[in-house]
Amino acid sequence: MITIPLSEYAEQLIRGRRATRAFRPEAVPAETLRAVFSLAGAAPSNSNTQPWHVEVVSGAIRDRLGEALVAAHVRQDLSLDFPYSEDLYRGTYQRRRQQAGERLYAAAGIGREDHAAREAYNAESLRFYGAPHVALLFTAPNAEVRMAADVGIYAQTLMLAMTAYGIASCPQGLLSFYADTIRAELGIKDRKILLGISFGYADESSPANAFPMPRAELGETTRFHG
Ligand SMILES: Cc1cc2nc3c(=O)[nH]c(=O)nc-3n(C[C@H](O)[C@H](O)[C@H](O)COP(=O)(O)O)c2cc1C
Repeated sequence: MITIPLSEYAEQLIRGRRATRAFRPEAVPAETLRAVFSLAGAAPSNSNTQPWHVEVVSGAIRDRLGEALVAAHVRQDLSLDFPYSEDLYRGTYQRRRQQAGERLYAAAGIGREDHAAREAYNAESLRFYGAPHVALLFTAPNAEVRMAADVGIYAQTLMLAMTAYGIASCPQGLLSFYADTIRAELGIKDRKILLGISFGYADESSPANAFPMPRAELGETTRFHG
């Protein structure tokens, strides 16, 4: 029997996860959902507090939520639990952000200056890029940056667990711009939402899923001391 080192699996798993923006309609079986979300619960957190509350939304409720989000977008009814401002990303970060946007819109067939088409694409993404499921990641009502970090670590653990089970995902910060709408639709009182993760089986034939998103060179982000 040939055994593959764990590092090779890790290379495949971590590099194999991609933000996916076109999905096939079929649902993930309930048993697989339970396996994936149980595995994600193995994520580490500060003092093992596990400060995440996950709402997995499918079927008619998912459809209704998507409609409510698009309606909130049309009304410009924004509500964010964690503040965001356009100048958050500066310098190198802003440059990378711009390049990512250019690649993404080009893959979706949208021209550089076509602001209306970009806006329509973003609005449509509130229907979860057509994914049959969305996981909404909430945390405590009093949460600040440290708890947000725990939820971020959970999010990546969840997406890697999904990758391992053949499920594609797209983390969508944009969904959290409509926090009050999501809470109203799901009957949630006061928890804060950090992001949503749309997921299902990838539409491998879509060009929206077939473009490289490069990373910075190691030396740009990481210094080794000693
Ligand atoms: C916290 C977070 C929020 C994101 N929000 C969005 C979003 O609102 N819409 C979207 O299409 N992609 C979103 N993404 C996906 C990123 O654009 C994507 O992860 C990045 O460009 C790297 O590409 P890759 O995931 O395919 O490697 C988000 C990713 C993260 C981690």
